[in-house]
Amino acid sequence: MRIFLLLCSLLFLIFSGANAQRLCTSDMQAVSVYKGSANNANLLQNGKGRDTIASEVIIVPVVIHIVYNKAEHNISDAQILSQIEVLNNDFGMLNLDASNVPSVFRNKAADSKIRFCIAQTDPSGKPTKGIIRKHTNLISFQGDDAVKFSAAGGDDAWDSKRYLNIWVCNMGGRSLGYAALPGGEAVKDGVVINYDVFGSTGPLRASFNKGRTATHEIAHWLGLKHIWGDETCGDDGVDDTPRQRSYNYGCPSFPRLSTCTSNGNGDMFMNFMDLTDDACMNMFTHGQAIKMRGIFALSGQRNDMLLSYQCDSPVAGGGPLLDEQKPMPVPSGLYIYPNPVRNYLTIAGGGTDLSGVTYTIYTTQGIKISEQKIATPNAQLNVSFLPAGVYYIKIRTPQTTMLKMVKL
Ligand code: ARG
Ligand code: ZN
Ligand code: CA
Repeated sequence: MRIFLLLCSLLFLIFSGANAQRLCTSDMQAVSVYKGSANNANLLQNGKGRDTIASEVIIVPVVIHIVYNKAEHNISDAQILSQIEVLNNDFGMLNLDASNVPSVFRNKAADSKIRFCIAQTDPSGKPTKGIIRKHTNLISFQGDDAVKFSAAGGDDAWDSKRYLNIWVCNMGGRSLGYAALPGGEAVKDGVVINYDVFGSTGPLRASFNKGRTATHEIAHWLGLKHIWGDETCGDDGVDDTPRQRSYNYGCPSFPRLSTCTSNGNGDMFMNFMDLTDDACMNMFTHGQAIKMRGIFALSGQRNDMLLSYQCDSPVAGGGPLLDEQKPMPVPSGLYIYPNPVRNYLTIAGGGTDLSGVTYTIYTTQGIKISEQKIATPNAQLNVSFLPAGVYYIKIRTPQTTMLKMVKL
C-alpha cells in the first residue's frame, strides 16, 4: 500500500492531471481489496444458497448513502434515480449509445442480465426509500473509507450480503469514484462515487455526466478488471476483450491501434472498463458479463445476493416505476395473448399496424428488462428468455398502454 501511495504521488507529479488522479485512488483500492480477497476465500464454501439460472435476470438491491457537507453535495432524488436508470441501461445493453459500438465489436456487446433496484426494505424489515441523507462535518473525503463509517463522519454500510452500498460524497476532486472488489471486508463493501459525477441529470461535471463512473465502479465491485489488465498489454481475465497497451482517456476515434499482438481492430476503448469519457463508453462484452454473473453463482462471492428481496416492499406488492410524465391515457384497445404465456406473446387490437412500435418489459419493481421495436404488423414477441413471474409490458403506439403479463 505504501509503495502504491508513492507510485501514486509520482504519477500525480508526472501527469498532475485528472487522469492520473482517477487512476490512482481506484487502483490502490483495488490492490488493497485484492489482498483481502485471498484471506477470505475460505469463507465462501458454506454450501447453502441456490445457483444462478442461465437466462435469469439477477436483481441487486441498492442503498444510496448521501453523505453531504454542503447543500450541493446533497443531490436530488431525481439525480439519484437517474443513476439507477443508467445502470439498468448499461448493464442491460439498453443504453441508447450502444448503437455507437463499432461494427467490428458489435457482436461482442452483451446484456449482462444484471439489474439494480432501490431498496424498499431496510435491514430491520421496515419500509425505506433506499436513500439515506446524512450531514457530515467533513468538508471532503480522502478515499480512505471514512465515508463508510458513522464514527468517522460517514454512514455505516447496510448488510452487504443483501445490498449494494453506494456512498455519494465530496471527494474533493481527488477521484471520480472507487470500488471494493468481491471478497473484501463486509463493512467496507460497495462503491464510493463523487457527488458531481453521479447520475445523468443535475449539475454534473463535464465529460463525466452520463453516470458511467458508477457503471465502471460497480463492474469492479462485480470482479471486472480494467480492460488493459492494469499492465502494459495486460490480461484482464476476459477472452473477448482485446489486449490493449494501456488505458485511454478522452474520446479516441476508432480504430485506435495499440502495439499489442493480436489487437487487430485496436483498443476496445469504448468498453466501460477503459477510462474514456462518459459519452464515449458504451459496452460490456459477453466475457465480462459471464465473469460478473459468475460472482453470483453458487461458489461466487456474492451468491447470497440471489436471496435478497430488499426491493420488495414490506407493506405492499410494489408497483412499477413509471417514466411517464403525464397521466396514462385511456386504454387503446390493445391486448396480449396468451396470458399467461410460455414462449410467444401476441399483441393485437387497436386496429393499427404495430410494426415499428416500441414495447418495454418491466418487472413488478419497475425494472426495465427489455426494450425492442416490433418488426411485423401482427406482433409476435419471443418472451421465452424471461424467468417465470409477473411482468408489465408497456406499448407505445405512440399512445402508451401498460398491460400485465404472466410468464410461465
Ligand atoms: N475511478 C475510476 C477508475 O479509474 C474512473 C473511471 C470512470 N470513467 C468514467 N468515464 N466515468 O477506476
Ligand atoms: Zn477502474
Ligand atoms: Ca482480454
